[in-house]
Amino acid sequence: MLNNFNRKYLLYGILLLLELVAVSVCIEDPLINDDPFFELMHEELFKSKRNNEYGYDSFGEKLPPILPPEKVNDDNKSLLDNSEVPSYVIDFCPLVHLHTEEEYWPSDIADYVKNFNLTDATGNIILGGTSENPLSLKDLKAYYKLKHKNKKSKKDKFISSSSVVMTSIDDFDKDPDWLIGHRPKFGTGYIKKGPAVLVVVDKGNGWVDAFWFYFYPFNWGPYVMGGGPWGNHVGDWEHSLVRFYKGEPKYLWMSAHSGGVAYRYSAIEKMKKLRRVNGKLTPEVIERPLIFAARGTHANYASVGQHAHDVPFFFMPLSDFTDRGLMWDPSLNLYSYIQIGTTITPANDKSKKVGTDWLYFAGKWGDKELPRSDPRQKWSVFQMKYINGPTGPLFKHLDRISLCPSFKWWNFLNSCPQRRFIKKSNGLNAEKNDLIGDNCGVLLYKIRPKWLRGIFRLIMWRGVICFIMEFFTG
Ligand SMILES: *[C@@H]1O[C@H](CO)[C@@H](O)[C@H](O)[C@H]1NC(C)=O
Ligand SMILES: *[C@@H]1O[C@H](CO)[C@@H](O)[C@H](O)[C@H]1NC(C)=O
Repeated sequence: MLNNFNRKYLLYGILLLLELVAVSVCIEDPLINDDPFFELMHEELFKSKRNNEYGYDSFGEKLPPILPPEKVNDDNKSLLDNSEVPSYVIDFCPLVHLHTEEEYWPSDIADYVKNFNLTDATGNIILGGTSENPLSLKDLKAYYKLKHKNKKSKKDKFISSSSVVMTSIDDFDKDPDWLIGHRPKFGTGYIKKGPAVLVVVDKGNGWVDAFWFYFYPFNWGPYVMGGGPWGNHVGDWEHSLVRFYKGEPKYLWMSAHSGGVAYRYSAIEKMKKLRRVNGKLTPEVIERPLIFAARGTHANYASVGQHAHDVPFFFMPLSDFTDRGLMWDPSLNLYSYIQIGTTITPANDKSKKVGTDWLYFAGKWGDKELPRSDPRQKWSVFQMKYINGPTGPLFKHLDRISLCPSFKWWNFLNSCPQRRFIKKSNGLNAEKNDLIGDNCGVLLYKIRPKWLRGIFRLIMWRGVICFIMEFFTG
């Protein structure tokens, strides 16, 4: 017989169980349903369901499987050859609205590297530049030959660039000119000294991934609960991915801090622009997708306003701000590359000049986290003021099948849901008449039957669902 005490705990237990079931129905299933690439990522799970036929029904049509680059062969490749970037990649290049109060603009990696020495993790110089002969992109590569300390040994010693750090020669804390970057031209969005890096990856069977990399010399922020900014670093690589099927844009993923968000292409705000062919304007009007880069951190969002973003701690309001500041058109100035199979080839004059070796540099594109003893460094409960620089484009999982490059530890299902609506920002500066999608609604409307959905809406405090969902999807 249960006494009152035990009964109480039994009740708690049952409630907890119900809660868990509710959470798993609310979150897991819709997440799976909303991720068109989930089946491919978890083929073992779905084998029994499928009679040899791949594909998924995200658009009400069966699409063939997207392939990892190493499985793309002459039979499966989507691109004819690697000589030219397909015109649709340029036509659907995202336009980037930088923030009105931005202080750190895009810059040319070829100019940027001139301000660095290559050092190992302990600060020993591996390759030093001088003002007459500064470091260049050609000095960036996968391995470095070490100078012999012991002249007798004849064997060359190589170290992987993964332990190499680009260490700035000037004091970056004093905002040297090269740290500021260059503003886009009003009107066209052209940045003469700020080319983007485009890597077009053939994913086989009609699929093509266009990775647009945005390089900024400095990441300032973000602010945590009004304090900071914390987590500043020298060198900032952000990127977006436009995923095409047979020349048609289907999805857009954009990076934000250590994660990002995937959208159906149709959900993204568009802007009418005149089409350009080989840089020349044509009378044809096309619609270009818009993304918004946050002030200082350059994290990418699909809407304007204040964005609280993913940190693996509860209740930590950490904010990014986006608005309709100067617009950057990365398609007007770029280093372009094409990857078919495992080979990456330069695809325009600019990229041919700098080659491909720099892409394989696995080290940090900016200074190592400053030691605590350094007077420039500060520390808070959340983060250091200055943290490590990032790694370059090829270390962002360009071979991804899912739209997401990697998964947070709490995303145990490794699901990357694509949103059908723009993720609305919060805060006062969010534009009222934006195409607004309710994140929670996106999840909830997946719950069938309808009466169950209604119950979930009632039982679970909506805010909680939203919060948990945000937590799970980053
Ligand atoms: C590649 O294409 C060939 C011919 O279309 C097909 O038989 C093969 O299964 C494909 N390979 C993959 C990995 O999809
Ligand atoms: C960078 O390298 C050059 C050449 O080795 C050296 O003279 C200079 O002192 C180095 N700068 C710093 C800040 O380490």
